[in-house]
Amino acid sequence: MAVSSPSSSSTLKIGIIGFGPFGQFLAKTMIKQGHILRATSRTDHSQLCHRSGISFFSDKRAFLEADNDVILISTSILSLSEVLNSLPVHCLQRRTLIADVLSVKEYPRNVLLQVLPEEMDVLCTHPMFGPESGQNGWKDFAFVYEKVRIRDEATCSSFLRIFESEGCKMLEMSCEEHDKVAAKSQFLTHTIGRVLSELEIQSTSMNTKGFETLIRLKESSVNDSFDLFSGLYIHNRFAKQELLDLEAAFEKVKHKLQQKMEEVQLEQSPNESKL
Ligand SMILES: NC(=O)c1ccc[n+]([C@@H]2O[C@H](COP(=O)([O-])OP(=O)(O)OC[C@H]3O[C@@H](n4cnc5c(N)ncnc54)[C@H](OP(=O)(O)O)[C@@H]3O)[C@@H](O)[C@H]2O)c1
Repeated sequence: MAVSSPSSSSTLKIGIIGFGPFGQFLAKTMIKQGHILRATSRTDHSQLCHRSGISFFSDKRAFLEADNDVILISTSILSLSEVLNSLPVHCLQRRTLIADVLSVKEYPRNVLLQVLPEEMDVLCTHPMFGPESGQNGWKDFAFVYEKVRIRDEATCSSFLRIFESEGCKMLEMSCEEHDKVAAKSQFLTHTIGRVLSELEIQSTSMNTKGFETLIRLKESSVNDSFDLFSGLYIHNRFAKQELLDLEAAFEKVKHKLQQKMEEVQLEQSPNESKL
C-alpha cells in the first residue's frame, strides 16, 4: 500500500461520509479554507454539493478510490456500524487519515479499529459545537480529539489545523475521558431540553431570564435529530448512570419540598395536626 503526504501542507482532499446537517456545516468552513471536498451519503445530495463546488459520489467504491487525504465520518451515531460495514474499505489505495466527528467517542474508536485495515490512521474527534451554536464562527469552542493510531503526523496536523486556525480550544483527551465528561454535561443538557419539550413549555408575557434560558435550551435540543440524542444514550456507557442520577435527584428535590410543606403545615396549625 502506497504512503503519501497531503497535496500541500495547507490543502487537503477531504472526503465526507454522511452529508447531513453537521457534515454540510463543517464542509462550508473547509471550503472557505481552500480544501478540496468530496462527499458521499445515503441520500442523494448531489445538487447541494454541486452548488457548493463539492464532488458528490453515489458510488462508494469511486468515493474511496478518489485519492482522499482524509475521510471524515459524519454519519449518525446509530448508523455508524451499518455505514462502515457497507464500505468496500479494501478499495482504499493508500494510507488515509480516517477521522470521525461523532458525539460519542469510545464507540466509533472501537468500530473503526475493528473495521479498518491496519494501515489506516485513525483520529477520533468531537467538535463541541453545531450548525446553530457555531453559525457565527468556531472561536473559543472546544474541539476534543484523540490520536488513536497516527503514523502520518503531517496529515493529522494539517487536519487539526482546520479547527485550530478558526480559534477552537484544542483538547486532546482519551475517548473514555470524553464520554465520562460528555455524559455529565452534553447528555444531561440534551435530556433536560427533551424533558422541557415534553412539557411543551412556551414563552409567556412575563418571562424571567431563567425561563428564557429554558426555552432556548428546549429549542436547541429539539433542533438536533432524535437519532443524535438517542445515540448519546445508547452508545455512551456512562449515560445510563447519568439518567439514573437525574431521576434520583428529581425524587430528592420532590421529597425535600414535601418535607418542608409538612413542617410548615405543622408550624401553622399544630393543634389540627394532633387531631
Ligand atoms: N449537529 C451537531 O451539532 C453535531 C455536533 C458535533 C457532532 N455531531 C455528530 O455529527 C454526526 C452527524 O450529525 P447531524 O447533526 O448531521 O445529524 P444525525 O442525525 O446525527 O446524522 C445525520 C447523518 O447520518 C446519516 N444517516 C442517518 N441514518 C443513516 C442510515 N441508516 N444509513 C446511512 N446514513 C445514515 C444521514 O445521511 P443522509 O443525509 O444521506 O440521509 C446524515 O448524513 C453525528 O454523529 C453527530 O453525533 C453533530
